Amino acid sequence: MTLNDATAIQAKDLCFSWTENKPILNACTLEVPKGEFWMLLGTNGSGKSTLLRLLAGLLKPTSGTVALHSPVGFVFQNPDHQLVMPTVGADIAFGLVEEALPTLMLRLRVEEALSAVNLESFQRRPIYALSGGQKQRVAIAGAIARHCEVLLLDEPTALLDPDSQLDLVAQVQALVKHRGITALWVTHRLEELEYCDGAFLLEQGQVVDRGNPQRLKQRLMQSEESSLTQE
Ligand SMILES: Nc1ncnc2c1ncn2[C@@H]1O[C@H](COP(=O)(O)OP(=O)(O)OP(=O)(O)O)[C@@H](O)[C@H]1O
Ligand SMILES: [Mg+2]
Repeated sequence: MTLNDATAIQAKDLCFSWTENKPILNACTLEVPKGEFWMLLGTNGSGKSTLLRLLAGLLKPTSGTVALHSPVGFVFQNPDHQLVMPTVGADIAFGLVEEALPTLMLRLRVEEALSAVNLESFQRRPIYALSGGQKQRVAIAGAIARHCEVLLLDEPTALLDPDSQLDLVAQVQALVKHRGITALWVTHRLEELEYCDGAFLLEQGQVVDRGNPQRLKQRLMQSEESSLTQE
């Protein structure tokens, strides 16, 4: 499937199940406009991570199509599952191995990516000495060094304290605004919706609502309240 210039992420009629007779995604469709920051909401087990993996091509749908502008960067919930080298600079350079860049170019790409996430002075730091928020920024710098057009982030703030959480979401918002990157961010945390351009709500394998983040936030808060009063 080919994409027009205005859309950077598209899923059309995606179906997927892990086990027979239990569909996780059922004709799931979404589109993220190029250069925008969108979030994906849904209850535990609704299929958000599965959808993100299908978008990234890490899983194959039973039917339906996926199209994204490339390269695509993926940021996992736990950065320790993503950062593989002993130091910050080496980890980012490792992601560029396939491009076989001349040394000077490699150095420039690593420096530029680190400065994009405000970690210029961290190049020689060991990964183990970083905070969770710093590790997530290194993971994002890896995608920036590869000149990713699309960032897919699966609850990247789940393990962070509240201050680092809001720093990270603001950082991604700034990267989207200033670099024309398109980002899709999975979250449970409604306060993060302040930073995005739009949001999707995933329920029973489909996107059942999309658009204005404030409206979706109201909808979710009301449904949480009504489920509490029913208990
Ligand atoms: N590797 C797997 N094998 C079998 N079933 C899986 C696998 N991964 C996820 N599932 C099931 O698929 C459903 C959707 O899971 P998924 O992880 O996509 O949900 P999620 O919306 O990301 O949930 P959470 O908010 O807890 O992260 C769940 O019922 C889950 O148990
Ligand atoms: Mg998940």
